[in-house]
Amino acid sequence: MRDINQFTLTEAVRHSFKTEPGSRFESLLHGLVEHLHDFTREHNVTHQEWMAALTFLYDCGQISTPERHEFILLSDVLGWSALVDMINSKGGATEGSNLGPFYLGDAPQKPLGADLGDGRDGAIVLVHGKVTDTLKNPLPGAMVDTWQADAAGTYPIQEAGQDKYDLRGRFTCDANARYYYTTVLPKPYTVPYDGPVGDLLRAGNRHAWRAPHMHFIVTGKGMSGITTEVFFKNTEYLDNDAVFGVRRSLIADVRPARDLDKLGYTLDKTPDAVIEFDFVLAPEG
Ligand code: BEZ
Ligand code: FE
Repeated sequence: MRDINQFTLTEAVRHSFKTEPGSRFESLLHGLVEHLHDFTREHNVTHQEWMAALTFLYDCGQISTPERHEFILLSDVLGWSALVDMINSKGGATEGSNLGPFYLGDAPQKPLGADLGDGRDGAIVLVHGKVTDTLKNPLPGAMVDTWQADAAGTYPIQEAGQDKYDLRGRFTCDANARYYYTTVLPKPYTVPYDGPVGDLLRAGNRHAWRAPHMHFIVTGKGMSGITTEVFFKNTEYLDNDAVFGVRRSLIADVRPARDLDKLGYTLDKTPDAVIEFDFVLAPEG
């Protein structure tokens, strides 16, 4: 009979899985078992701690709904989402950042120059730029899908009685690969902290605030799409964003609106400020 003890157990568990030799699944599963066992041995995990961890995961499941995925939030506050974004960003392309929970795949297509703010309070800002490939070739027809919070830090989708499609839209870049629209400047907001992940933040003396940002998914024919966020210079929480979304390359200047005629855009609203941000996509594959 085999002798299973704390030193031989890991190998026994690894071999208990009959996976395809050399497959990605095998390597992920074996790695997970090894790291979990090493962690447990290194920290002499007690029964109490083991049960607390399992109860925490159970609670994350209990509070989750199709609209609220507590495990994604857990991944975000542990920096796991950010790490996956970082290691999967392609060289030369715009860096990736959090998708977050408020994306809607069917946001309305809007004409270039449209206003997303729809009369909301806050500074009106022109958001514009171009989409290119990593060799700086423009990508006319690239799609820019954006969504954001309002000037109070709330996503319309979070508020009863508001239209969930407000403050979001999809734009097709023009022949010069440019996108442009006006909106309101968003304010910081907190990630949901009324559940187990909030308890974890409190236990670690951490806040739940996100640096103000706009979300983008940018796609182009034959290119790898990117999911990212644009942040604003000199705003709060850039250095301690609750979900580690901020990258230096994703921080844009917010400048006073001047000499707008030079841009040649037709805009629905006259902006007070301007944010220029260019997106770079890498070829597919
Ligand atoms: C957001 O940016 O919308 C977000 C990201 C992570 C957790 C919660 C919200
Ligand atoms: Fe967000």
